[in-house]
Amino acid sequence: MNKVDLLVIGGSGFIGAHLVRAAARAGYSVAYTFNKNRPHLPGDAYQVALERENRLEACIETTQPGIILYCAKPALSSLRSVHDQVNVEGVRWVLAAIADSPHVLFVYLSTSAVFSGHAGPYTESDPPDPEARALYSAYALTKHEGELAVLGARSNAIVARLARVNGRDVQGSLNRRIAEPLEILRAGQPLPRYSDRYISPIGVDNLVQALLEVIAPGFSYHGKRATTLRGHQARAFLEDIECLTFGEQQQAMARLTGNYKRGNERVAKNHPRNTW
Ligand SMILES: NC(=O)c1ccc[n+]([C@@H]2O[C@H](COP(=O)([O-])OP(=O)(O)OC[C@H]3O[C@@H](n4cnc5c(N)ncnc54)[C@H](OP(=O)(O)O)[C@@H]3O)[C@@H](O)[C@H]2O)c1
Repeated sequence: MNKVDLLVIGGSGFIGAHLVRAAARAGYSVAYTFNKNRPHLPGDAYQVALERENRLEACIETTQPGIILYCAKPALSSLRSVHDQVNVEGVRWVLAAIADSPHVLFVYLSTSAVFSGHAGPYTESDPPDPEARALYSAYALTKHEGELAVLGARSNAIVARLARVNGRDVQGSLNRRIAEPLEILRAGQPLPRYSDRYISPIGVDNLVQALLEVIAPGFSYHGKRATTLRGHQARAFLEDIECLTFGEQQQAMARLTGNYKRGNERVAKNHPRNTW
């Protein structure tokens, strides 16, 4: 048995690969799945083709992860049956495999495409209406079904809806969404942009950082308490903080104590130790 802290399903994808790498750097032991493209990443890799068979159960049995991040999705143009298999059935397989393990945190990466876009800007309490989407409706419908499966089955779960994730892949190439417009502009061509929608893009590095914060033990949200930093996380924090300036260290501490932007960074500035 190769037990790990964290299993990334879809670890060979754009976001999944960044997560695997960043989590390993943060001190987590990591395993990940891939389908067609096996990347060079830290941790054990398991080939899982969700449209063919349920290998997830065996993978979870072997790795016994404390946290599972579900980042698999098929190409947007795939058949509805493939979307069903990857975005819903695979999720159900994971939920079944961890049904008797309430301590396992399950994070499902979803999408703002669960909203039609007819009535934004949206908040997380707005009801999704994927059936009203004209584009990529199979993706939108099945991602929403996946969300419902997760939230209906366990409380120890997070659904993270993303909009546009930009940046470079782990090999350093710009993702297509940025690379293509750049090519158009470099060729001196006009670049049509949207003027009829709200989008909240995020850089992949920021996203991964945010996800690592969310999965850290005792993550505080809406006033709920943050927890003790110990073990590999404490060691990783100490290593990270070495490379920061004094000001950045103060900010990092403020964030860790859960009071960031609520006063203690101002208090820290006035502490006698910090006035020189
Ligand atoms: N990127 C964005 O801008 C964005 C925006 C909104 C939401 N999201 C969500 O974020 C998550 C990750 O997105 P991403 O952009 O990183 O996706 P991606 O680059 O397309 O990666 C998809 C992952 O799923 C795996 N996969 C695809 N088909 C599979 C199958 N049949 N069986 C098993 N695995 C399969 C791929 O494996 P192989 O590559 O090895 O074949 C890859 O690891 C998804 O849940 C997506 O809905 C992303």
